[in-house]
Amino acid sequence: MLWLKAFHIVFVVAWFAGLFYLPRLFVYHAAATDAPGLERFITMERRLFGIMTLGAALAAVFGMSMILAAPEYLAAGWLRVKLVLVAVLLGYHIWCYRLMVALRSGNNSHSQRWYRLFNEVPTVLLMAIVVLAVVKPW
Ligand code: HEM
Repeated sequence: MLWLKAFHIVFVVAWFAGLFYLPRLFVYHAAATDAPGLERFITMERRLFGIMTLGAALAAVFGMSMILAAPEYLAAGWLRVKLVLVAVLLGYHIWCYRLMVALRSGNNSHSQRWYRLFNEVPTVLLMAIVVLAVVKPW
């Protein structure tokens, strides 16, 4: 179980590295106008999205393995609330994908300031999920 938890945390960190950095790339991408700069952002975003998706998938695999190994987890209130927040995080991940595709095809409809605010969302979710998983208030 401790091995599963250790790797769960490793892949959660990998996922969050992407969730923090990808919208930051969007901030700079939205301001870029030169062709080589735009191409570079498109490549960086595509690679980062691939890595963070792998991190998300493996974090979920290890998290679900812990639940399979000890199904009584599902009775805990903190885990249920945590899973709802993980679903919100997954929605954010998919939203990032859609924004990446829009930027790539020149159809960006958001300002740099909007991307900066959008970039704050994973911070709030990270704090809430880690407090739930560690403090286990219910
Ligand atoms: C499908 C998604 C996920 C599932 C099924 C899942 C499930 C679990 C389970 C069963 C544990 C063991 C709890 C314990 O024994 O204390 C755990 C631990 C943990 N999870 Fe997740 N988790 C998921 C996603 C996440 C995410 C997205 C984060 C961070 C934002 C996260 C952060 C943590 C942390 C920090 C621990 C260690 C808690 C401790 O040992 O005190 N998990 N997770």
